[in-house]
Amino acid sequence: MLVEPFAGSAAVSIRAALEGRVSSLWLNDANQPLIDLWNAILHDTDSLIEQYTVMWESQKYDPKEYYRLVRARFNKHLEPADLLYLLSRAVKGAIRYNSMGEFNQSPDNRRLGARPQELARRLKVISIAMSRCTHTSSIDYCDLVYEYKSGQVWYMDPPYEGVSRRKDSRYFSTICRSEFEAFLHDLNDQGVPFLLSYDGRTGERTYGKPLPSELGLERVEIEAGRSTTSTLQGRNEQTIEALYLSPNLEAIRSASVCEAADQTALDFASKDYAKAS
Ligand SMILES: C[S@@+](CC[C@H](N)C(=O)[O-])C[C@H]1O[C@@H](n2cnc3c(N)ncnc32)[C@H](O)[C@@H]1O
Repeated sequence: MLVEPFAGSAAVSIRAALEGRVSSLWLNDANQPLIDLWNAILHDTDSLIEQYTVMWESQKYDPKEYYRLVRARFNKHLEPADLLYLLSRAVKGAIRYNSMGEFNQSPDNRRLGARPQELARRLKVISIAMSRCTHTSSIDYCDLVYEYKSGQVWYMDPPYEGVSRRKDSRYFSTICRSEFEAFLHDLNDQGVPFLLSYDGRTGERTYGKPLPSELGLERVEIEAGRSTTSTLQGRNEQTIEALYLSPNLEAIRSASVCEAADQTALDFASKDYAKAS
């Protein structure tokens, strides 16, 4: 089983499922509305597509104002179809919040979002590949350690690292560096095999501090392609991402499920993959 404690759009799990490399998946994310959307994608696909289609058609008269109405409705009722529409139209498809915890990302006014037919095709492919073998949950990553069972491989792509939780209100939650390091020690002690996307660099800029050597992690650098942010700012810069491999992966590397998850994550564990897929 491939477990993603910080699933987000679950790019690695989707790829692993589409390539038939895993027998089961577990998507966890502290953002409950996002997990509600995942459940709708997996188990209520047709209804979700129908609602999206109605919204997509209705926006044509005044796309800017329509986005604003859906955003206000989402902040009140947290409905999965509204979140799907917002993510399809939001700048960079990114979830951002204001200090009151409301979704406040602006629309990308150059685009109307994925056409319903194309979106339906993508969601159906994902649902067929994942609905029968995917477990979902919405708990804090720290509590997931109690759910570890042998046979699982974890892939983690945590959010922006702050010095304390919820320091930056733009994000659903940031993680505290010292708490996260303690958590990684726990994972090692409990025998959890994991892969972790953490720090990296774009051009001259680095982000995130490399993890301490006491954790015994192997650090692999992956070329994640041209940075979209730099491109928007008129620069041509490549992004290099660090992927950390835990010592417990070594022990089970010969097992097929680990090889699959390991290889998939090595090949595709980069934020840019989510955009490309
Ligand atoms: C960088 S994103 C993951 C992106 C993902 N790899 C993808 O393919 O889209 C980090 C995710 O962690 C989630 N998150 C933040 N704090 C969390 C926490 N304490 N426990 C679990 N998930 C959390 C966020 O909601 C966000 O979706």
